[in-house]
Amino acid sequence: MTITSRLYSHLRIFIAEKQFFSPSFQIYRSSIYVSIHRPFSDLCTNKKMATENKRPFKRLPCLITPINYQIRLAPNFEKLSFEGSESIDIKVNESTSEIVLNSNKLTMENSAEKCNVKLPKDDKTIKIKEIKYNVEEETVTLSLDEKLEPGMNAILNLEFTGEFNKQLHGFYISRYIGPDGKERLSAVTQFESTYARQAFPCWDEPAHKATFDITLIIPAGDNDDKIVALSNMPMKEEIRDSQKRRVVKFERTPIMSTYLVAFVIGEYDYIETRSKHGVLVRVYTPLQKSEQGRFALDVAARSLDFLTDYFQIPYPLIKLDLIALSDFDGGAMENWGLITYREECLLVDPANTSTIKKQNISLVVAHELSHQWFGNLVTMEWWTHLWLNEGFAMFMEFLCVDHIFPEFNIWKQFVSDIFLSAMDLDSLDNSHPIEILVGHPSEVDEIFDTISYEKGASVIRMLYHYIGDEIFRKGMKMYLSRHSYKNAQTEDLWNALEEASQKPVRRMMTTWTMQKGYPVVTVNCQGSRRLELTQEKFNSNGRLSDADKTLLWAVPVQVITAHNVQKPKSEILFEKRNDFLELDDTIDLQKEWIKLNPSAVATYRVQYQPEELFIRLFEEGIGQQKLDPVDRLNLINDLYSMTLAGRNNSEVLFRAIDSFRNECEYTVWTVISIIMAKYNQLLHGYDFHPKFVQFGSNLITYKVFGEIGWDPKPAEPYLQTLLRPLLINRLVTFEYPEIIKKCQEAFDDHVTKRKSIPADLRSAVYRAMAHQSTEEIWDKFMKLYDETDLQEEKNRLASSLGAVKKSEFIDRVLKFAISDKVRSQDSVFVVASVARNPVARRAAWEFYLANFELFKNRYENGFLGNLLVKSVTENFQTEEMAHEIEEFFRKNPVQAWERSIQQSIETVRLNAAMMARDTEKLTKYFQMK
Ligand code: BES
Ligand code: ZN
Repeated sequence: MTITSRLYSHLRIFIAEKQFFSPSFQIYRSSIYVSIHRPFSDLCTNKKMATENKRPFKRLPCLITPINYQIRLAPNFEKLSFEGSESIDIKVNESTSEIVLNSNKLTMENSAEKCNVKLPKDDKTIKIKEIKYNVEEETVTLSLDEKLEPGMNAILNLEFTGEFNKQLHGFYISRYIGPDGKERLSAVTQFESTYARQAFPCWDEPAHKATFDITLIIPAGDNDDKIVALSNMPMKEEIRDSQKRRVVKFERTPIMSTYLVAFVIGEYDYIETRSKHGVLVRVYTPLQKSEQGRFALDVAARSLDFLTDYFQIPYPLIKLDLIALSDFDGGAMENWGLITYREECLLVDPANTSTIKKQNISLVVAHELSHQWFGNLVTMEWWTHLWLNEGFAMFMEFLCVDHIFPEFNIWKQFVSDIFLSAMDLDSLDNSHPIEILVGHPSEVDEIFDTISYEKGASVIRMLYHYIGDEIFRKGMKMYLSRHSYKNAQTEDLWNALEEASQKPVRRMMTTWTMQKGYPVVTVNCQGSRRLELTQEKFNSNGRLSDADKTLLWAVPVQVITAHNVQKPKSEILFEKRNDFLELDDTIDLQKEWIKLNPSAVATYRVQYQPEELFIRLFEEGIGQQKLDPVDRLNLINDLYSMTLAGRNNSEVLFRAIDSFRNECEYTVWTVISIIMAKYNQLLHGYDFHPKFVQFGSNLITYKVFGEIGWDPKPAEPYLQTLLRPLLINRLVTFEYPEIIKKCQEAFDDHVTKRKSIPADLRSAVYRAMAHQSTEEIWDKFMKLYDETDLQEEKNRLASSLGAVKKSEFIDRVLKFAISDKVRSQDSVFVVASVARNPVARRAAWEFYLANFELFKNRYENGFLGNLLVKSVTENFQTEEMAHEIEEFFRKNPVQAWERSIQQSIETVRLNAAMMARDTEKLTKYFQMK
């Protein structure tokens, strides 16, 4: 089944389809009670990791710290290099004759005129005796001729040169073909997490905030007036220098961290508007594409207003630019006042952009806008608190989009996409606590992962529901005002929210952010209205370590009953090993059903011990649809995890799935389709696989597909529009003849330009055609690929190619993935699409091995490498493969991917264990169908 990874659902790049990977666990009971109020050192289960296999690392000394940087940068597009100079006002905190700051891949010439320290008051220049680079630490030590003393007013002057980064970090070149067919080069930046030091020497740690006066110098040329130069702040003045170059100076920034500095020099068009609060908002796009920025412009202005009102703190700058960059590693970056985006995450071409992509754009825009407060105004003190930035921005993007587009039902989608992907990953042994000790720069990029984003956002949502919107806002305002233009730690947030709510926020939340994993709560009935609750860590492999057995969480438990599914009946903060919950006398547990965790607001799983209770819950809650959709999807997902964990079995699971025959809700189908995708991977090659496929198409065609159909209905509810491509894509995977025929017709009409395929259905149609893979179809794909200049469409075509079946085409797609036709940022998704195709996954793995050096060179920094390694490994299901993967990476270790590699190997072993347990049952179940 071709479904895109959810592991990195926050990347939102190829979000139209979703994948799942397998946690499993077995029952472990422990009666050991350990207080949950333990110090960080104890709770932080990555303590061992922090000392083993880690590069030794020290943060910069604070003897000297920056106050203001004056930076001038002059790119040279011919030589692909740049020259720079800076004057940094520094504060001397302690007497020293050494200045240590970050610098990476920059060269400084040690001449007294170019590099020195000036003491303007004394009209004195101090020479730099020696410039010593520490490549490993990414620092430079400047030894001065004289000591600097506290209280001195000193300026550090440096001149330097550098080459543009060949990956998409630091200061790098982005290219696109302009409307005249000629290539345009722009110099652009991506500084988070530790790459500002590749553009100018600086104190490149989030806690060293300073102000910045940026000057950009545009190379002189015939059309140099067409080039725009952008930075965080509005332009202050522009002059031509003696070499006739345009020199563009920007206003001074607020006090901020280095990773948020940005510049862009290149040819772009723009459109603009003003937010209600009067901020000038612009969207910059490649030439002649400015109208494609219209949707994002509107979302940005509305988000800005929403967030200003929500936090009751104004956006502090007078302008906000959003720019679509053709070459971009991630999805987007929140640089203060100049947010950069991958084209696909910003541009909407009404005829060619799918609904889900548009929704994604609204989320990405809102995400980066939230960072303007959460991250930019108040910044994490160190990368350990990264989740504060990312988890929070992810939570806020949903709050914001829900406000702007209530019809999206975005909170329901939060549960099926964000919440569940966090829960799945976090049941692995190789997960990590939200708060994690981070040292060397090479460890930082790795934690921009599902735990920081999805789990971070999920635990904030849990807290939000625990204290309520009003108190949450009050606490947030307190937090943001208290730490504006400063740094904060996780504790500071808890303090503010605890103060606002008068609830034990810190005690509760520490259990979620400092411990790896989450609990499963087992429910037993005592009599007709007393529930007995027990908690223990939910571990996918069933081997709870002694440390695991001591873990406890503060779980806000709520219960709904059959009488009222909307309003929780009872509620406790469950923080012991065992506890009891009394329900009122309207309930009879011997006859009725209850459900814990209504709306899946808290991050735990539930196991209903008495079988009758569980059966009632399923029959009425799902069969008769008495439960809300989010509760329905929560139940089936819990059951699925229990199955992978060996606490239940696949036969029970498939019987349960069969009871979703009448299901018509998008978010529930998302989850069912994830489960089906997983089994499609696991069962591929077994005799009964065709029966499984039959089961899948029957499930979809029994009712829901008849309701939804191929063609959109006028004024249909929004989620139906999302459901259509999801179902059709699944039917394509199951090669449902009627749909394959429709796809062929639609493709023919499309390539002959009779009628274009609606954007929402394109990926399904393309995949159906890729299955057939003939030379003729290949040529048509290539023609479509070459003709479009919309990145979204190119990637849709390229990733659909992963569905090809014949081996010569599989090889061709893999070669295509790393050819010049595919941007480096996109190759990973094409290879991943092949790896998700069960007939091609072995070929994708071998291709990965054969091109390992190339992939390592391209993606060692950033998260694409992590995504790729997971994609090409995690769908295997045998011990031999687990061993093969393990051996390969033992011989070819890559520190920055280590956790992903371990997670994949663990997943493959869990897959194998599940198949060993359940193959027989599955065979029987499907053979009887
Ligand atoms: N701050 C990140 C960008 C980033 C990610 C920088 C990883 C360095 C390493 C930004 O706010 C972000 O989270 N971007 C996401 C998209 C977002 C909508 C979840 C991304 O780039 O995938
Ligand atoms: Zn972010």
